[in-house]
Amino acid sequence: MKQAGKTIVCVTAYDALFGRLVDEAGVDCALVGDSLNQVLCGEPSTLSATLEQMIYHGRAVRRGVQRALLVIDMPFLSYQVSREEAVRNCGRVMKETGAQAVKLEGGAAMADTIRALVEIGIPVMGHIGLTPQSVHALGGYRVQGRDDATAQRLEADAKALEEAGCFSIVLELVPAAVAGRISKALAIPTIGIGAGAHCDGQVLVLHDLLGLNDAFEPKFLKRYARLAADVRQAVGTYAAEVRGGTYPGPEHSF
Ligand code: KIV
Repeated sequence: MKQAGKTIVCVTAYDALFGRLVDEAGVDCALVGDSLNQVLCGEPSTLSATLEQMIYHGRAVRRGVQRALLVIDMPFLSYQVSREEAVRNCGRVMKETGAQAVKLEGGAAMADTIRALVEIGIPVMGHIGLTPQSVHALGGYRVQGRDDATAQRLEADAKALEEAGCFSIVLELVPAAVAGRISKALAIPTIGIGAGAHCDGQVLVLHDLLGLNDAFEPKFLKRYARLAADVRQAVGTYAAEVRGGTYPGPEHSF
């Protein structure tokens, strides 16, 4: 798609229902992000997500997604300890979910691990910039690469990931100019989130773009629906009708 000049559309999905809906909407890639640990489970970060959780949700999304590329996030500590553990855990995700690829966070330091995975046939999507599994080391959810030194490090990381065999790289919270330079320098596509318009594709968390997660309002997010308000209104109306005795009516009864 990059070679053909087509922009890649990616969105998260955490279950079979939304997997089917995003697939039917025509996205190119569905990502089972470890953000599910925050969005679905209410945890403060992605750090406590487990391999079992990612496999459980990955299997569910697999049942809904027929056409789009399915990528599954590897959770914190499932791929950093050793290459052997990374191969075993990424292999489990591929075997047990039926996904076509895994995504893992980190730059040049992950190159050897990525090489080992690619060598045994596991396609890997990289993820640099704001890497949420390193939120404490980064001092918060902040834009990365604002100064020359960190921008150059990001560019070197992107190159190292491409050389290691990644088929694509997520750039998260990176200035648009830096993301544009990286996208131009790589043959593989970049997928941006909070990284401006010059990436080869974009990804958003589905619950954010649907306005379901309405407590989360980062600058980069555009809401395409306001479903949190719809849910409150619908459930409120249901509750009022049950309490008022107007639901169920004769037409809903046997
Ligand atoms: O976990 C996730 O949902 C992600 C995307 C935001 C890129 O990594």
